[in-house]
Amino acid sequence: MNESGGLLLSPIRIGQLTLPGRLFKTATAETRATEDGFVTEELVEFYRLLAQGKTPLIITGNIYVSRQGKSAPRQTGADDDAKVPGLARITEAVHREGGRIFAQLNHCGRQVVPDFVGAQEVVSASAVKDLLTGTRPRALSPAEIAEVVRAYGEAARRCKAAGFDGVQMHSANGYLLSQFLTPYTNRRTDDYGGNLERRTRFGREVLAAIRARVGADFPVIIKMNGSDALPLREGLHAKELAQAAKIMEGAGVDAVEISVGHYESGFPMVCGTFGRCLHAMLQGSMAHLPAWRRILLTIFRPLVTLACNFLWPGREGFNLDHTPAFKAALSIPVICVGGFRTRAVMEAALAQGLCDAVSAGRPFLADPFFFRHIRDNIPGPRCVDCNACVGHLGAQPADCYHPKIRAEKDAMLAALRRP
Ligand SMILES: Cc1cc2nc3c(=O)[nH]c(=O)nc-3n(C[C@H](O)[C@H](O)[C@H](O)COP(=O)(O)O)c2cc1C
Repeated sequence: MNESGGLLLSPIRIGQLTLPGRLFKTATAETRATEDGFVTEELVEFYRLLAQGKTPLIITGNIYVSRQGKSAPRQTGADDDAKVPGLARITEAVHREGGRIFAQLNHCGRQVVPDFVGAQEVVSASAVKDLLTGTRPRALSPAEIAEVVRAYGEAARRCKAAGFDGVQMHSANGYLLSQFLTPYTNRRTDDYGGNLERRTRFGREVLAAIRARVGADFPVIIKMNGSDALPLREGLHAKELAQAAKIMEGAGVDAVEISVGHYESGFPMVCGTFGRCLHAMLQGSMAHLPAWRRILLTIFRPLVTLACNFLWPGREGFNLDHTPAFKAALSIPVICVGGFRTRAVMEAALAQGLCDAVSAGRPFLADPFFFRHIRDNIPGPRCVDCNACVGHLGAQPADCYHPKIRAEKDAMLAALRRP
């Protein structure tokens, strides 16, 4: 426990790395790179501010490991050695402020609208159509799986060379690793499908490819669902997902971060309100959906908003329902993301042993100094879970799009820049 009486400010070890506190900035797809995935000054500044806010650990938004795994325009890539110098600009800026940063590595699999990123074809564990986007992938062949595994390894090598303090495998939220784990999206009959052991094979191979390139001492963590939240479909629940996490712990991951849901689940990942979100989505990322889906959503938007508000209301620590299964199964740190807004709730989650650290996304978009403000009990721009940020996802840089809160944030940052 820290002198000031809080677990939140006590150090935590992740592999060989000791971090000075237990509130992390989780991954939020920053989409501030160039169209072909190179780092921009705007992206460097995004992370620099988080480090200036003394955030104990920053996890980048999902970075694609290969062009095939890209899911959004202006997404950052780690798919090419030519990108290493740009990625190094991020880590240099963060380290200069005394911060630590992990790169979240991802392949989107079927969770992409092909027109949105100019993709020719979409791949997955099996050819299971995504009911939200209508995207129908084809199943990867074993030789192609080996190629994706290699891409993960090579991307991790580049991130380490660029000075990142660790990497995170994104195996949550219905992306490719999660598609292999979940029986609903993995119908394979070869060594990559079937029982849990087989369905974790792809993840274990990815981890081995990463370890082979970054070594045993480099922190490698994994993000997983605490629940797939796929009612009426063959999704996974906490108990089985915790067993999968145990297998990954045995294979050598250093910590697990718990999230929830696939795209097809709706919005359990970002509980809150959805009026601003759906409005922005229809003009942004959903503009690329097939016409009939767009028209239906436009007509029924008020009803859909009401239903979403009812199904996924904002709640602090909304994934804490799932973490006890992981705490019981694992020895490595369990990080919980989802709805953490107040120091009291974060401290209670840690004190009750529901998790070892907490992470937050939207509050850091509203206020890059969220950690420092929580630590010092200073009011800052406060996220109200309106999800306008989610609505603009992909079409505009990840940021706060609530007019009043954004104005507060901009004024705070402008005051900093004044001589
Ligand atoms: C704008 C936005 C972008 C996101 N991008 C990612 C991402 O790239 N990778 C990921 O694992 N989760 C992503 N998430 C989900 C967050 O990591 C997190 O699970 C979610 O926002 C709930 O945490 P919060 O209540 O603290 O915002 C994103 C969320 C938002 C709002």
